Amino acid sequence: MATLALGGWGRMRHRQRQYESDKRAFIERVAVTARAARADKQDYLGWEGTRELQLSAVVDEAVDVKSFYLTDPDGAALPAFEPGQYLTCHLPSAPGEKPLVRCYSLSDRPREEYYRLTVKLCLPPADLPEAPPGRGSSRLHTMVSGDRLPVSAPRGGFFLDPRRNHPLVLIAGGIGVTPMVSMLATLAEQNDDREVYFFYGVRNSREHALRDQLEEIAAAHPHLHQFVAYSQPLAEDREHHDYQLHGRITIDTIRRIVPTGMYDYYLCGPGGMMEQLVEGLLAAGVSEERILYEAFGPASVRKMHKHDEPATSVASAGPTPTVKFATSHQQVDWDNHCDSLLDLIEELGVAIDSGCRAGNCGMCAARVLEGDIETVKQPGAAAPDGYCLACISVPKSPLVLEL
Ligand SMILES: Cc1cc2nc3c(=O)[nH]c(=O)nc-3n(C[C@H](O)[C@H](O)[C@H](O)COP(=O)(O)OP(=O)(O)OC[C@H]3O[C@@H](n4cnc5c(N)ncnc54)[C@H](O)[C@@H]3O)c2cc1C
Ligand code: FES
Repeated sequence: MATLALGGWGRMRHRQRQYESDKRAFIERVAVTARAARADKQDYLGWEGTRELQLSAVVDEAVDVKSFYLTDPDGAALPAFEPGQYLTCHLPSAPGEKPLVRCYSLSDRPREEYYRLTVKLCLPPADLPEAPPGRGSSRLHTMVSGDRLPVSAPRGGFFLDPRRNHPLVLIAGGIGVTPMVSMLATLAEQNDDREVYFFYGVRNSREHALRDQLEEIAAAHPHLHQFVAYSQPLAEDREHHDYQLHGRITIDTIRRIVPTGMYDYYLCGPGGMMEQLVEGLLAAGVSEERILYEAFGPASVRKMHKHDEPATSVASAGPTPTVKFATSHQQVDWDNHCDSLLDLIEELGVAIDSGCRAGNCGMCAARVLEGDIETVKQPGAAAPDGYCLACISVPKSPLVLEL
């Protein structure tokens, strides 16, 4: 009798525990779905307009790479974000200078105390060494602790989707590592035991940013397999210590290392690298919905086709559309030599503001009086009705812009 009673009690306790655990899982699932839906829609931002944050620390991470720790000046808690999202920074510009708006991915996991950005100084292109370095990154690199920085709330459609729990392959090239570190730090914080393969390509140890944090995460998480590739190791760089792979990250590297399985792929890096890898993954049979990527500039967006068709397909499909500018009384044929309407507008010397040049800040909105445009990238910011975001738009038909 006594044994039976104990068995019944045990079963009851078991059922109760099961019920509590199912309830927790259910509540978590609902919360996760709501969070992801909010992040997807991009309408529910942490705050409206800009908010002035304070630079509380600036840390050297690698050659020409610095991290900026931003806090609320009154110590208020900062809203959460999804790992992979970015902040839009309204950088100080000299009187009479064009506004300086740039986007930077949040490079640490969400924390109430601070947001971290990790920014590489954008040097002139190799074939034009006399050009000035990038305006935005140069300005940020001169800022110091105590400076104030107006920023728009975290946003962006490239984030670790909390609704999915497939094993992951994260691939970063150069400063494209920033959203990946945020994702990895979040997974580590959540004790997520998914298998994660992380590939990070840089030239050598001088460019190996956020190394300590990445090594700490990898050491504490046996399910994370980290592969750092140096394409031009220095004499003092040691294989299997500083880096695991010699050369660039290619589709063959990934196929050799990642076991067959249903992985979700997240990529962020230079245009050429992403183009090759995305093509390679698709060719290897990875379905498009499992490949997510972020491009840090328009060049890397142009030839990609995840969300939209490439720009060149638009105008080449029919007769060459003309683009008229009503205010500045100009008219040209759209012959595809420009990647976007913004490029064309700037080439003609028509006045227009621009910021991120990647459809994220809304600064290049131009009013369309007649005709249709097509966007070459999923916009991060919404253009007002009747306007287009010139940096990610190309004409679909003859066009009249108000400019
Ligand atoms: C969503 C998103 C997230 C991002 N996250 C990050 C991040 O985490 N970290 C990061 O470092 N960056 C990030 N970026 C990139 C960042 O927003 C900027 O694009 C980058 O810092 C370069 O901006 P800049 O103002 O310094 O360069 P720009 O002033 O835009 O100049 C770009 C390049 O043009 C060259 N140039 C200047 N004048 C001329 C000329 N006359 N002729 C030819 N070339 C010229 C410059 O030398 C430079 O190489 C992100 C971008 C996006 C869209
Ligand atoms: S320049 Fe930012 S949306 Fe076009």
